[in-house]
Amino acid sequence: MKNKVNVAIIGLGQIGIYLYNELIKKKKDIEKKTGKKIQVVAISAKNKKKKRRFKIDKKIFYSNPFKIFKDHKIDILFESIGLSDGVSKKVVELALRNKTNVITPNKALIAKHGDYLAKLAEKNKVNLEFEASVAGGIPILRTIKEGLATNKISKVYGILNGTTNYILSEMENNNETFDKVLQKAQKLGYAEPGNPKLDLNGFDAFAKIRILSALSFNAKISKNKCIMEGIENIKLEDIKIANQLGLRVKLLGISKIINGRLFETVHPCLVNKNSYIGNVNGVMNAVITEGKPVGESVLQGEGAGPGPTSSSLLSDLLSILRGNIKYPFGISSIKRKSIKAFNNDNYTNSLYLRFEVNDKQGVLSLITNRLAKYKISVKRIIQTPDKKNKKATIVIITHKTTEINAKNCLTIFKKNKNVLKFPTLIRLYN
Ligand code: HSE
Repeated sequence: MKNKVNVAIIGLGQIGIYLYNELIKKKKDIEKKTGKKIQVVAISAKNKKKKRRFKIDKKIFYSNPFKIFKDHKIDILFESIGLSDGVSKKVVELALRNKTNVITPNKALIAKHGDYLAKLAEKNKVNLEFEASVAGGIPILRTIKEGLATNKISKVYGILNGTTNYILSEMENNNETFDKVLQKAQKLGYAEPGNPKLDLNGFDAFAKIRILSALSFNAKISKNKCIMEGIENIKLEDIKIANQLGLRVKLLGISKIINGRLFETVHPCLVNKNSYIGNVNGVMNAVITEGKPVGESVLQGEGAGPGPTSSSLLSDLLSILRGNIKYPFGISSIKRKSIKAFNNDNYTNSLYLRFEVNDKQGVLSLITNRLAKYKISVKRIIQTPDKKNKKATIVIITHKTTEINAKNCLTIFKKNKNVLKFPTLIRLYN
């Protein structure tokens, strides 16, 4: 790469604007470390006049991002719009075809089109880097691609969404409602731009799991049907009951190879309060890999927000400036294979079940008989009466059972006049 490097940023939301400011501030430092002089020659966003955290140079502003390529030879493009398709995909495609290196924190784009875009980058002999797409400031992708390069990884899991981890922690610590905490998370720039639903329903963490699987297992990005659940159904009550039981709710992403099959999932888990993962709180993410011969490795850090995300974006920039074209997924696209899916029905866990019932004779035995019919063994049971309303909460912790068995067992409670709501189910992390 030549000594003067032209950079463009597309998307000036919380991430893009912070990055823009960092690039200007760190220009000298970047030159000292790489010998390259970067120049931000174009920026683009929907709205030129929007009030932003940092001032922008309006002379280099483009309303139409595609026009940038007509006016400049861009060496490195940052895409920080954040959509899986539309302008995000089109602009990245155009850049790669123009032999422009691309850096993006956009996990939705990579999880959906990463295989195709990696091939395009390889064909055009440019880099496509996406360190910031997984776990914000934690350098997990480069660790897997480089630091752990010769290990056989069998499992990668952890807390991959800062917004939900922050919400669960704040609810527990401050006794605050879900909605109030979500607003705070949005203000801090943790939640996905415009659509926090993608954080709350597990989609964001799931996209990250897909990317981690592909890198860890040298595989194509899977399109398997998986169990994906978010935290929308977790109530303050569950957090409090879990606390009494020495447990804590965490949204975990898990990807592992079981008998040669790929199992990927995101769902809330009850973890031991004294465990390592049980103490990763607030916006912190943690990614744990298990591999041979390295054993277990843990990386922890801030998983969301403009600061940590920009840290990863700049690490991608420096990697490109230092030279060499690298395979986006660590190995050539031709060598990456699809791995067959593990059957989700056979996923096995102990379960936390919370029933809201009428406090009447026979209701408890209705529940335990139903569990017995499906050979689900009860480990622990706690009933809390609500005398005034003649209701009760029954919490049951079961021994291990399969996903399909639990599903079939619980169906009956969809329509039962004494079971007031379909039971809340939270899996315990083994
Ligand atoms: N919205 C994401 C999170 C940050 O809360 O973790 C970017 O991945």
